[in-house]
Amino acid sequence: MQLFVDSANIAEIRHAAELGIITGVTTNPSLLAKEDPTQPVEKIIATIYDIVGGHLSVEVVSTDTDGMIREAEEILSWLPEATIKIPMIPTGLAAVRELSRREIPTNVTLVFSPTQALAAANAGATYVSIFLGRLDDVGHDGIGVLRQVMEIWDVQGIESEIIAASVRHPMHIVEAARAGAHIATVPYKVLMQSLKHPLTDAGLEAFLRDAAKRRQQTLSV
Ligand code: G3P
Repeated sequence: MQLFVDSANIAEIRHAAELGIITGVTTNPSLLAKEDPTQPVEKIIATIYDIVGGHLSVEVVSTDTDGMIREAEEILSWLPEATIKIPMIPTGLAAVRELSRREIPTNVTLVFSPTQALAAANAGATYVSIFLGRLDDVGHDGIGVLRQVMEIWDVQGIESEIIAASVRHPMHIVEAARAGAHIATVPYKVLMQSLKHPLTDAGLEAFLRDAAKRRQQTLSV
């Protein structure tokens, strides 16, 4: 399972990229709204692509098909490698169909059920983003929905890649990988949490202490 970082923050993205653990970035209008308002969106997107270079999802904010296609064209004029993120609404599906006809990669977002995922795949989505945390927030089972989707993908041999999105904690990463998601897009904070283990820290502390002790002993011989 590949890891993407779900962020529009340049410092976070730069650090995650330096660690060598991410192959892409997903953004959305809410993430972009948290960043420096003096920077145009296209500048932020271009900087992110310079840093990571892999997958970069950029979301449209129109809700009609023609508007979404126009926005997709605009995004691609700044960044031809962008994947166009389209909301899971009927007009969005029609936009996905058209963009797929033009061989433009799409990521259908705000997907909360297996039937929505199937519709997105049939419209020609390259990626389908299942929102785990937001399902959990309303008392549903995000990972349960993801498992159903992966079972359908397996039985039907569907090729659209599944992104586990709205990831809130490291166990979402574990369960998404176990379920067979192709990608998890993870907020920076959760990505960092997922790297930590108290036994790693304690073990390293002991190794460093013992190495220093041995250096001292060698010097005093
Ligand atoms: O980028 C889409 C998704 O990952 C958003 O997550 O935490 O706002 O539900 P969240």
